[in-house]
Amino acid sequence: AAELTTVEAGKLTMATNATFPPYEMTTDAGTIEGIDVDTAQAIAEKLGLELQIDDMDFDAALLSVQQGKADIAMAGITVTDERMAVMSFSDSYATGIQSVIVPEGSDITSVDDLAGKKIGTQRGTTGYLYCSDDFGEDAVVAYDNGLTAVQALNNGQVDAVVIDNEPAKAYVESNPGLKILDTSYAEEDYAIGMNKSNTALLEAVNAALEELKADGTLQSIVDKYIKA
Ligand code: ARG
Repeated sequence: AAELTTVEAGKLTMATNATFPPYEMTTDAGTIEGIDVDTAQAIAEKLGLELQIDDMDFDAALLSVQQGKADIAMAGITVTDERMAVMSFSDSYATGIQSVIVPEGSDITSVDDLAGKKIGTQRGTTGYLYCSDDFGEDAVVAYDNGLTAVQALNNGQVDAVVIDNEPAKAYVESNPGLKILDTSYAEEDYAIGMNKSNTALLEAVNAALEELKADGTLQSIVDKYIKA
């Protein structure tokens, strides 16, 4: 394989935000694991690089590849036109659905019911963008991460949290008294973000992803973290 240029020679530096189970989460022991981590590890192996993880805020992870500080941003990142204007994306490796978390017994039973309510989201995410477009910026509170948004919901500071479905399930499982609405907001594709100028890396990552899809590795990683 041709030499790949990376931020640090021999390494594949991944910017992420490890508060987003099961894609990336921090264990009690302080290690970072999840679908994105295992997938990035498998890609790094195929590229002959050592995976290095940089944990930061979600919006910082997006900036990190744009500024050439990380090689890949992998954080359950939704492909959007706005993001495609400033970074490149691999082929998609997963889909996500924006979901609505409310307290049991809430009078919010549909997405339309969010009108006039306080909505918690994670800063810089599509959940924030959709809600501020649809219900106005004043209605939306942007938290550092999904966990703090859910805490705010528990404390009654917001009426609902809009976030991707898999982390939503994990948060609700560990926070009794909360539930996910049956109706969902929007369906999205997740992909790996890279610097626009590193086209060699983009091609190499796509080739690796294709192999991991074809030989079942990607599915077995998903099955390890998402129980059917
Ligand atoms: N899919 C959403 C987006 O791209 C949220 C991703 C948040 N990821 C994270 N690791 N915190 O905006």
